[in-house]
Amino acid sequence: MAFIFAIFSAVFNFIINELRVLWKGAYLVIWGQYNLIRMIVIGIWVPLSGKNYGDVLSRPKNMRSGMAILRAFLPTLVIKKKLTTAYENTGTAFVMADDDVREIVYLDQIFRTAYEPKMNMLTDGGNFFLAMDNTPDYVNNVSSMHLAVNQNDISGRLTPFVKAETQQIVDRLNGKIDFTAEYMLPVMARLVGDYFGTPAPNEQTLIRWTHDMFRYIFFDFSNDQAVIDPAQKSAEECRAYIDQLIAVRKNQFIDEDDVLGRCLKLQAADTPAMDDLGIRNNILGMITAMLPTIPNAAARILDQLLDRPRVLAKARKAAQNDDDALLLRYLVEAFRFNPMNPVLFRIANQDHILAEGTLRQRKIPKGTFVFAANFSAMFDPMTISSPGKFDIKRPQNDYILWGLGLHTCFGEQVSRALLPHFLKPLLVRKNLRRAEGDAGQIDFAGTPFPKHFHIQFD
Ligand code: HEM
Repeated sequence: MAFIFAIFSAVFNFIINELRVLWKGAYLVIWGQYNLIRMIVIGIWVPLSGKNYGDVLSRPKNMRSGMAILRAFLPTLVIKKKLTTAYENTGTAFVMADDDVREIVYLDQIFRTAYEPKMNMLTDGGNFFLAMDNTPDYVNNVSSMHLAVNQNDISGRLTPFVKAETQQIVDRLNGKIDFTAEYMLPVMARLVGDYFGTPAPNEQTLIRWTHDMFRYIFFDFSNDQAVIDPAQKSAEECRAYIDQLIAVRKNQFIDEDDVLGRCLKLQAADTPAMDDLGIRNNILGMITAMLPTIPNAAARILDQLLDRPRVLAKARKAAQNDDDALLLRYLVEAFRFNPMNPVLFRIANQDHILAEGTLRQRKIPKGTFVFAANFSAMFDPMTISSPGKFDIKRPQNDYILWGLGLHTCFGEQVSRALLPHFLKPLLVRKNLRRAEGDAGQIDFAGTPFPKHFHIQFD
């Protein structure tokens, strides 16, 4: 009897699984078709409405539509054309399916990060570990920086700093603020200056240095002189500044408990990667990775919450109850709908058959510049359940917001801890809303970074 039951149950499970796969496949195609029609309508509407294609297509919802179409009909697009001239390559690939994006990013020996030549320009000698392969040098740099950027600082130092600074600003407000320019950026500049020991000549200079360098690394695909020149200038100034700080601290035996001070202590203890050049490059890389990112993420998250009044009300409730863990779930899910890094890019250093044995199987030739669309991956119905639903209960594994594998974000825990503390003081305010008109939309001012975002409350 038990044997018959086991067979019956196995057949039943088999049928259910097959139906599930068929349903997911059908959903993928129907959703792709729906979005194709949607984008055709938008394509006709844009010139009639006098709007600009670039502005309309870069809206997160329209990007999601474009990705849904590719996922359904061209999940891996490989072309001979070199769409980026900023890196040596032999062609371009766009990878849309969740499983395939993960395959690219996890195979770090085959798909290497592309940033090294640009990083070399910024550091003027040496490298920063974001641009390194999985080598002893990589491990030494990351390990040493984990000693200097101690995770206990998150609750012991960084969170209290953000709480105090944001509260001070909010207490002075009379119902409105430029969330990016008057709140996120100045507080992040002060936090980075204080924590790393690198306040720069002033906050605006630190913001300029880090944004110029970040833009050059992550947003220049065409060797654009208008991006290269400011990055070169900012990198030169930043290097000279850190070099001088190191010299002064050493010559005057200044002992500070900040990241720079800790690096110098590690140097005194002969720790690898902590010679003067190593310290300079690590600090330059780390402040560039930290300052522009959290304000960018926070603006995108708040924008998504403001678009969803019912979700916003629940997030506000979590903020009022001081439930940071619950609030973080709302913030991370909102971030999925408009991530800061919609693609991760890599260069293939050998031929590779992607998604081997599946209908998506494609050869990625050696030298291909690969855009692995993590934004698309997080909306792939083949692996993510109800991807279009705002669902704070989805498993953490569904998210690829801080990268994956070898180069997973060094600051992921810091970001996850700080984002609720940045947003909470505003979320608890009554009737939190956008300012009227364009001011209430994120203004990128022609850059990849939010520059202004005016909000109001009672
Ligand atoms: C919400 C904020 C942030 C987001 C969304 C973010 C996103 C990312 C992503 C997607 C990567 C992987 C890049 C790749 O694989 O090509 C990455 C790497 C990195 N991030 Fe972040 N980041 C954030 C904040 C930070 C902060 C606060 C720091 C510094 C404390 C930081 C430091 C780094 C570093 C050093 C790497 C390179 C890690 C490695 O190569 O091992 N990030 N970040």
